[in-house]
Amino acid sequence: MKPVRIVGAGALGREVFAALSVLGEEILCFLVEPGLIRESVHGVAVHEIARGEGAQGDARYVLAVGVNEARRKLVQTLGPRAEYACVVHPAATIGPYVDISPGAMVIGRVSMTTDIAVGRHALINPGCNISHDCRIRDFASLGPGVSLAGRVTIEEGANLGVGAVVAPGVVVGAWSTIGAGAVVIRNVEPGSTVVGVPARPIIRRQPAKDA
Ligand SMILES: CC(C)(COP(=O)(O)OP(=O)(O)OC[C@H]1O[C@@H](n2cnc3c(N)ncnc32)[C@H](O)[C@@H]1OP(=O)(O)O)[C@@H](O)C(=O)NCCC(=O)NCCS
Repeated sequence: MKPVRIVGAGALGREVFAALSVLGEEILCFLVEPGLIRESVHGVAVHEIARGEGAQGDARYVLAVGVNEARRKLVQTLGPRAEYACVVHPAATIGPYVDISPGAMVIGRVSMTTDIAVGRHALINPGCNISHDCRIRDFASLGPGVSLAGRVTIEEGANLGVGAVVAPGVVVGAWSTIGAGAVVIRNVEPGSTVVGVPARPIIRRQPAKDA
C-alpha cells in the first residue's frame, strides 16, 4: 500500500491521523494552505499544498477538511490522477454489502448494518448509526451521533449537524444543511437549511425597516 498524505491539519486532520495510525498506515505528511503552515503535527511534517501541480503518484491522499465544498474544490486542485485512501476506523462496525468509496472517512465508533453505499470524500463522524439501504453521496457529511433510519438518501454535499435523526425513506437534498438535533421526517429541498423537531426550513427574520 502506498503511504498517505493528509490534506488538512486541523481537528479532522488529527482525527484522520489517529485512525490511520491505529490502522498501521504510513503517513508521509500533512498538506495545508500557505497561511496554515507550521512545523509539525504529532511529529509529522506539515507542507504547503502545491497549486497547479496536481497529486504526486507516490502516495494516496485523504481530504481531511471539514467543509464539504472545500473537499470538492480540493479534488479539482489535486487533479484526476490523485489516488485516495479510504479511512475506516477499526472501532467501526461495518456489516456486509457496505460499499465505502475511496476518500471516504469513517471516524471512530460508527455502526452500519447492511446494503449501504458511502460516496467519495463523504465524512461520517463518531457515534453515527446508519441502517439498511442508506445512500450517502459524495462530499456529504454526518456530524457526531447522527442516526439514519432505513432507505435514507443523503445527497451530494449535504451537511447533517450533530445528533440529527432522519426518518425512513427520506431524501436529504444536495448541499442542504440539517441543524444539530433536528428530526427530519420529510424530504429536504436541495440547498435549504432545516432545523428543529420536526425539522422545518429556517426562517430568517427581516431586519427592521427604518421608520
Ligand atoms: C442550522 C445551523 C447551520 C444554522 O446556523 P446559522 O445559519 O448561523 O443560524 P443562526 O444561528 O443565525 O440561527 C437562525 C435561527 O435558527 C435557530 N436555530 C439554529 N440552529 C438551530 C438548531 N440546530 N435547532 C433549532 N433551532 C436552530 C436559531 O435559534 C435562530 O432562531 P431565531 O431567529 O428564532 O433566534 C446551525 O445552528 C447548526 O445547527 N449547525 C450544526 C453544527 C454541527 O452540528 N456541526 C457538526 C460538526 S462535526
